[in-house]
Amino acid sequence: MKSKPDAAADTGSTSKLVSDPERQRRHFLVAAATTTGVVGAGLAAWPFIASLRPSAKAQAVGGAVSVNVGQIEPGAQITVIWRGKPIWILRRTPAMLERMAHGHWINELRDPDSAVQTQQPPYAQNPLRSLRPEIFVAVALCTHLGCVPLFRPDVAGEGLGEDWMGGYFCPCHGSKFDLAGRVTKNVPAPTNLVVPPYRFIDDSILEIGVDHATT
Ligand code: FES
Repeated sequence: MKSKPDAAADTGSTSKLVSDPERQRRHFLVAAATTTGVVGAGLAAWPFIASLRPSAKAQAVGGAVSVNVGQIEPGAQITVIWRGKPIWILRRTPAMLERMAHGHWINELRDPDSAVQTQQPPYAQNPLRSLRPEIFVAVALCTHLGCVPLFRPDVAGEGLGEDWMGGYFCPCHGSKFDLAGRVTKNVPAPTNLVVPPYRFIDDSILEIGVDHATT
């Protein structure tokens, strides 16, 4: 029997497996809005969703972007824009973390320990690729040719096969990443997804674009 998905969040169907990377880029803002929409449902949730967003000014000038991650439900993901790029913020559940640590994918990952240093800051150079286990932050662009991968947290998700552990699927050429953005072997993407610089200002406020103090 298939496991239940950890979240209802999903950005699309994998039936559209082939598309143009440039077209993907042009439409990433639409994807961002769609992903953000999973945090709440319908127009009634709009004030709540808006409260998660960084200011328009911060997004426009490319400065640091602050986000209240305390309001992201377990298993849900939002997208914000930083320096013109879509940035995912996912609150991973204990079940997601368990699957990443002990699931069968561990032997199928190209760089499970984040050895390629260019893909994340030093403080995210660990198997979960994050400062806090439950909060994952990544640039939402495939490391092959820059398409926006689909968020597919659903285990054995439709169209992805019985061994799908939940993660990100790139619709352009089929690259697969786990929920830490770790790329699998035998796909076009050469490296893990990029983790941007970030820090926590307090328990809830995450700031993207400023490095976590390591001393
Ligand atoms: S852009 Fe080619 S697999 Fe993602």
